[in-house]
Parts: sequence; structure tokens; C-alpha cells
Amino acid sequence: MNEPRWDRLLLNATLATFAGDAPYGLIEQGAIALHHGRIAWVGRQGDLPDAPAALAAKVESLDGALVTPGLVDCHTHLVFGGDRAHEFELRLNGASYEDIARAGGGITSSVNATRAASEEQLFAQSLPRARALLADGVTTLEIKSGYGLDLDSERRMLRVARRLGRELGLTVRTSFLGLHALPPEYRERRDDYVALVTDSMLPTLAAEGLVDAVDAFCEGIGFTREETRRVFERATQLGLPVKLHAEQLSDRGGAALAAEFGGLSADHLEHLSAVGIAAMAQAGTVAVLLPGAFYALRETQLPPVAALREQRVPIAIATDCNPGTSPLLSLRLAAGMACTLFRLTPEEALRGVTVNAARALGLHDRGTLAVGQRADLVAWNARQPAELCYWIGGGLARRVYVAGEPVSRRKPSSRSSNSA
Ligand code: NIG
Ligand code: FE
Repeated sequence: MNEPRWDRLLLNATLATFAGDAPYGLIEQGAIALHHGRIAWVGRQGDLPDAPAALAAKVESLDGALVTPGLVDCHTHLVFGGDRAHEFELRLNGASYEDIARAGGGITSSVNATRAASEEQLFAQSLPRARALLADGVTTLEIKSGYGLDLDSERRMLRVARRLGRELGLTVRTSFLGLHALPPEYRERRDDYVALVTDSMLPTLAAEGLVDAVDAFCEGIGFTREETRRVFERATQLGLPVKLHAEQLSDRGGAALAAEFGGLSADHLEHLSAVGIAAMAQAGTVAVLLPGAFYALRETQLPPVAALREQRVPIAIATDCNPGTSPLLSLRLAAGMACTLFRLTPEEALRGVTVNAARALGLHDRGTLAVGQRADLVAWNARQPAELCYWIGGGLARRVYVAGEPVSRRKPSSRSSNSA
């Protein structure tokens, strides 16, 4: 008997490939073959060689179910201690996000809880959040530091992020966000903190292999453009790409700064100016929109979607999963919110959580269904792509495949089984 050519063959699928310019890159009556963790064949089932079932070790028929690339969540703060449900109540009683931050709450309160947590506790608290994203189709996840703000605590966060990737079989990309907030002990010594982040924390953590990219919070309650520039210059010296929380609450020229450094992305962008858009278009910097934070803060200033479209700036969508402004555990829901709140089309939103999100992480081996790409994909309890944005909640993912293997039924490891 001949050896099967492929490890796995999925038949009778509706494939949203996001490859090419056709709407969703849709292939009806499609088939996709997976081999050695990669996509080995994709196309119309009728174009397969004769007797396709004999070509693969495992064959599954999907009865017309929709298959997409594994979703990519390109902006999260998923590792943190505690929660901030109390601040949610304060905001509903009239306090603003900035009021709470200036009164010592906000990011600082998550810093206190994160510093107090051991590595094991942080892992146990973060694991269910990562599992929830995975269960809803996420196979690649960016996780930022930024609730430690001292060397040991930032290291602990990044180590937990890496471990989540290992234990769940997800790809985790880490971003060092030392310039997230001024830690309380540096209140009178701003410049010393920026120097500590730039000259000590970043090079140390990068040397330990814990940093894939460098981020900062460029904002009135965060850091100035000049402070951000300092950490970006160091990142560039270390060969690390940059990205930025920019123009979330006000226009500080952050997006243009990120573009100047060839940034992977500028994120939030509700207050983005025409100058910022032009700079991003020129540099190929992805616009990452975060409707969860817009929603939770009850913002009214919309990001300039029409102008981003016009200038052909690629748009990605992420959860921004964090305890303060976006306690959101479904990237699919983020895509739906991008349609409802920001008026993206479902196709734009879904390209935003696949191909454009991969680009926002500098990853070119995923986000589309094409030969040679990683075999990270999701079979959905849905038949048409728009359903992924249309259904609100409800556990739509039928099967998630990472590197060609189904993971949705994977058992939690025994060390962490009591934490979900
Ligand atoms: O992306 N804006 C800054 N960082 C986070 C919020 C962090 C927090 O409030 O804990 C964001 O919205
Ligand atoms: Fe964020």
C-alpha cells in the first residue's frame, strides 16, 4: 500500500482563505490538506486527485462547515493579578478612567496586585483567560508586560506569557511594555524611571529571550513622545520591532512616531490625525483597533476608519484583553463589535483578526489558508463568514487545529487543572 501523502484531509468545507482579493477568499465545496504542521493543499474539492480519501492518514468531512485561519489576537494584556470590577462600578457612578488613574487606581492598582502575585498564582489566574480565547478560535496571541514595572515583576509576567504558550500549544508573542504607567515609587523621579526601563530593564529582559517587541503608552496619563522615543531607540539598537498605544484618549502624535520607527502597529487610534494616517500608510504600520476598550469606556470619538481605508492602511482588530478598559475574552466578539461600533464590514473585521493581525505581529506564515502556511485553523459551527461577526457569544468554534492537530479537546495539564 502507498504511504498516505498527507497527515490529515478536511473535506466538504466552506473555506474563508483570506488569500487574494475575492470576498473572504471564499472557496465553496473546498478541501484542505495538512501535513507536518503546514497546509499542503487547499482548493476546490473537485480539483483533488481521484480517490482523495486514500491520500491522507485521517480524513474528516465537515458537512459544509466554515473553516478559517486560526484567529490572531495581536494586542492583549492577558497576564495580570486581580481584577478591577470595582473601577467598573466607579465609572458607572461618574468617575472617568483618567480620574481613577490620577487617584492612584487604574493601571497602578493592577500593578499592586500583579507585584503581590507569585509566578504560579499569575499563571493560574491568567490560564482561564487564555483558554477562553483559544476556545473561541485564537491560535496566536500577543501578551504584553506592563503591570510589573520593576525588573522582577515584568520578568514574571513575560515568563508566564511564554509558559501559557507552551502549555496550551498556542503561539505567544510577547511585548515589553515598561512604559505603561509611572510606578508609585518613581512619582517624583520620572526621568529615572524612563532611564531604568530603557537602559536596564529592556536590555536585560531582551537578553533573556523574553521580548519579541517593544510597546509604550503614549498619552497624557502615560508617557510623552520624547520618553517613548527613548525606549524606541533602544529597541531599535537591540533589533526589536516597536508598536504603540497611540491616540487613545488624545492626539499626541504617537502614531507618526511609531511609523517613524517602522513600527509594526499603532493601536487604539480614536484620536488619530490625518498626519498620523499618512505616516502609517507610508511606513506600512498596521492600525490596530480595539473596540472592547471603546465600548467599556463608553467612548464616543470613533477611530477614522474611512480615512484609514482611503489611505490603504491595513486594519487589525484585537481584544486588548485587560483588567481596566477591556475585560474581553472573545476575539470573535471584538470583530463583531468592530462592525457594530466602528462600521467595519464583516470581511474587514475578519481580515482584521487573521491576515492583518498576523502582519501586526510581523508574522507572515499564518493568517491565510494557503499552501505552506502554518496549519492553524478553525472549523466553525457556521456556514458563512459573516456569522462569525453576527452571533454574539455562544461558543461557535467546533474544532481548533494548531499545527495540524485538533486542540479543542486537549486535557488541561495536571498542574493547572484546578484553576479554570
Ligand atoms: O490598552 N491604555 C493603556 N493600556 C490598556 C489599559 C490598561 C489598564 O487600564 O489596565 C489599554 O487600554
Ligand atoms: Fe492595550
